Amino acid sequence: MARSVHDRYRAAFVDAIARALGAPPAEIEPHVKAAEPQHGDLSFPTFAFAKALRRPPPAIATDLATRVEAPGMRVAAAGPYLNARFEPQPFTGEVIEAARSAGLAYGGSEAGAGKTVVIDYSSPNIAKSIAFHHIRSTMIGHALVNLYRSQGWRVEGINYLGDWGKQFGLVAVGFQEYGDPARRDDVAHLVDVYIKANARAERDPAFDERARTFFKRMEDGDPEALKLWQEFRESSLRDFQQVYARLGVEFQHYEGESRYQGKMDAVIERIATQPGVKSDEGALIVDLPYAENEPPVLLRKNDGSTLYATRDLAAAIDRYERFRFDRALYVVATDQSLHFRQFFRVLKAMGYEWADRLVHVNFGRVGGMSTRKGQIVLLTDVLDEAKSRALDKVQENVKAGRIHTDDPDALAEQVGLGAVVFGDLKNRRATDYQFDWEEVLSFEGHTGPYLQYAHARACNILKKG
Ligand code: ARG
Repeated sequence: MARSVHDRYRAAFVDAIARALGAPPAEIEPHVKAAEPQHGDLSFPTFAFAKALRRPPPAIATDLATRVEAPGMRVAAAGPYLNARFEPQPFTGEVIEAARSAGLAYGGSEAGAGKTVVIDYSSPNIAKSIAFHHIRSTMIGHALVNLYRSQGWRVEGINYLGDWGKQFGLVAVGFQEYGDPARRDDVAHLVDVYIKANARAERDPAFDERARTFFKRMEDGDPEALKLWQEFRESSLRDFQQVYARLGVEFQHYEGESRYQGKMDAVIERIATQPGVKSDEGALIVDLPYAENEPPVLLRKNDGSTLYATRDLAAAIDRYERFRFDRALYVVATDQSLHFRQFFRVLKAMGYEWADRLVHVNFGRVGGMSTRKGQIVLLTDVLDEAKSRALDKVQENVKAGRIHTDDPDALAEQVGLGAVVFGDLKNRRATDYQFDWEEVLSFEGHTGPYLQYAHARACNILKKG
């Protein structure tokens, strides 16, 4: 695999420092890091060399700045650091040249050949209203899938649907009260029923009990209950799949929590032998040393039903058996950090070596996300909203003569999708941010529409030239 332009510059910087210090490059290499953007591209902290050189780090950096010569880079000291900034030329020209000759393979490698990564992403809940976090998970997960593939890994993308749990009981009994039998396959209606049923359950314990009983029937394999659940699941899935098609996202596997139905006893038995289980107010918990105030890992409630954590334990073991992964990622909101920390810990305590290969790829919350119609309930709503807002912008620009198009509708779809995807991925993954339609749809600045506009203009120049 050819080295990237960046790698070449990095190696030249390392060599130049090594020459100036009279040290082998291998000794310098591990110290060179990406610089803080305001300081340039690469940074060499001198701390580790202070002792041998008997000089304070800033003095070393200042001295190196006068002696290190690296072609195509401006080298300067900032306190104890020696920084290098790539000159716009020739660096930019070389990158463009490399990208043009490599095409889509640009940036790729075979570093992951023979390795497998399992990526659990998107994973929305069925018949429940969604939060923006499922779209974040979808887009971050999809980006990770592409990145791993580009580095030669075998990727198994899993959409682990939230398709099991008491919420189905709520939808089912809620449907008897608030549902329209003719609208059984209308997801928006199901979500509506769920919201009503949820509110009702909070003030009406008998209703809540009915929902619980319904879910218990599902867990006990009652065919009638399961048939209804199957119907709801299929309509939700159809709705999600439309969105995935619009976004160009594909999963190798659609499965869900329901897959582990009936397989949980075996897992609980294993946990019982190592590290052990105990009962806690009638519920079954994992016997672990817990920190003060740490909620214990629940495996079974006192009515016998299982939990999210129980299913995730079963799922991790199942995934390892199926894929023998070298790494398994869970692209899930930061809110669930405790859940992941805990169940990874349980797997480790069960004696699974591979527990160290599990990674929670967390991400921050998004605020301010709602549509003109109000609160977002479906994935589709977000994309429809993006499109309709983009259409306004497109029409504005067509009128002003800035944009020419025969098909404003198709263009609005592309601009809208680009805006949502770019507007999300440009943020630091773990940071919370405020979503602002005006901002993500702006044709100026660091936005999807700007990027697409720049691309269209570049194509136009090429065409004219
Ligand atoms: N369905 C869950 C939710 O919406 C996310 C599932 C993430 N994946 C997992 N293996 N727990 O919160």
